[in-house]
Amino acid sequence: MNKKLAIILISILLLLGLFFGFSKFNGNNSDSPADEPAAETETKNDYDYLVLVNKQNKLPDDWEDKVVLKESVNRYGETYLVEEKALEQFLALQKELAEEGIIIELDSTYRSVQEQQDLWDEWTVEFGEEYVKTYVAVPGYSEHHTGLAIDICLDVDGKRINDNDEMIAEKEIFAKIHEHLAQHGFILRYLEGKEDITGYGYEPWHFRYIDDPALAKQIMDQGIAFEEYLNQ
Ligand code: DAL
Ligand code: ZN
Repeated sequence: MNKKLAIILISILLLLGLFFGFSKFNGNNSDSPADEPAAETETKNDYDYLVLVNKQNKLPDDWEDKVVLKESVNRYGETYLVEEKALEQFLALQKELAEEGIIIELDSTYRSVQEQQDLWDEWTVEFGEEYVKTYVAVPGYSEHHTGLAIDICLDVDGKRINDNDEMIAEKEIFAKIHEHLAQHGFILRYLEGKEDITGYGYEPWHFRYIDDPALAKQIMDQGIAFEEYLNQ
């Protein structure tokens, strides 16, 4: 090998060494498994768990692009989409309640604007417009669009209970269920006696995930609506 060729080869090797060393220093080495989860975590859950969606506040425009939804199949073989942390906590809540002999299941979770429209239309035919306004949000204004809202149903002695009036009648069971919500980061969203503030009838089955058990406990202990907490 002549001297000139040897110098060129050494220069190339040095340049390659410098390039890879620099990339690693900057965390750009995609072969490094330690770097990958960090990058993923930074882009995940880039949304506000305290987002307010109600009759006056529409779902933020960029919400559906950001929210991370996961699938879950309930005991009746139905598949539901729920925001990932909300789902994890729901499953823990469900397990905890089962140990007390209370069976709860997913009954309605994430709903697209079109699905909300279908629900609105269906219920209007079945129950009439006044009833629908009390229990169903106008498409685009439903907390169910966030993936953070979960409607449960009960399974009592093998029978599924998901009719609004029948669920409201199960006062004792729901009182027990509500005691467990805050520790999993959920609040009761549509409270009895707060209809003027929330804009909806009492929904003991509609839980809202806020990702903060201490704050959820504070809200639940005070018995205030989410709107009241946000206005404090
Ligand atoms: N049932 C609640 C209000 C909704 O439709 O979002
Ligand atoms: Zn609901």
